[in-house]
Amino acid sequence: MESQNPVEVVPMPRIGDKAPSFKASTTQGEISFPEQYAGSWVILFSHPADFTPVCTTEFITFASLESKFAEANCKLVGLSVDGLYSHIAWLRTIKDKIDYKGMKNVDVKFPLIDDITMTVARKYGMIQPGESTTKAVRAVFYIDPAGVIRAIIYYPLSLGRNFDELYRVLIGLKTADAFSVATPADWRPGDDVIVPPPGTMDDAQARMKPASDVTLHDWFISTKKLPKEQVLKTVLKK
Ligand code: BEZ
Repeated sequence: MESQNPVEVVPMPRIGDKAPSFKASTTQGEISFPEQYAGSWVILFSHPADFTPVCTTEFITFASLESKFAEANCKLVGLSVDGLYSHIAWLRTIKDKIDYKGMKNVDVKFPLIDDITMTVARKYGMIQPGESTTKAVRAVFYIDPAGVIRAIIYYPLSLGRNFDELYRVLIGLKTADAFSVATPADWRPGDDVIVPPPGTMDDAQARMKPASDVTLHDWFISTKKLPKEQVLKTVLKK
């Protein structure tokens, strides 16, 4: 028998999907997402609630790093299931009162979405009932200039995000695109990168005699140098 009040089940967006579209009110006015970000990378992230301690430290950190992300052509958009006036009051409090690790008078200039109806949070799978039915988890969506989701990271309510890692993921994605390589465990610009593995028996055989700039570990794993300056020159301009 069908339920009287069926709960709409929305599939969670996945890596490789087009970012679901929405229009929303934010602390910087109305936005049309992701359409108005075409041509830029954008990180859409959620936080559980305004005026909560972990979220406050995250917002101060993200706002302090906004120009660093902008240099990599990446814009930031935040969301919680609070209303606009709560957002405005919280961001004013952050600027006027909070000093976290020497970061103070911090102006949060990126938009913070009013999602009191949870419409956007549900669309993006940010409400995860095993964690909370009333707060969004700490989700991070990386959306490329064509509006495609390229990476998703979820954290629980209790764990503040690592912003070095959030930046590293962006630079890693852009490096993989620009140089047609993959990036190994703990990769950072300047570390060797992974050459795409061979797809045929002949290619596998050819790999056994690597080019001078390639290090062969075995037929399926080869790495090569990619100087830090080359990475940064490329990924920080587009
Ligand atoms: C926090 O940001 O401090 C927080 C938010 C929701 C639940 C637990 C912690």
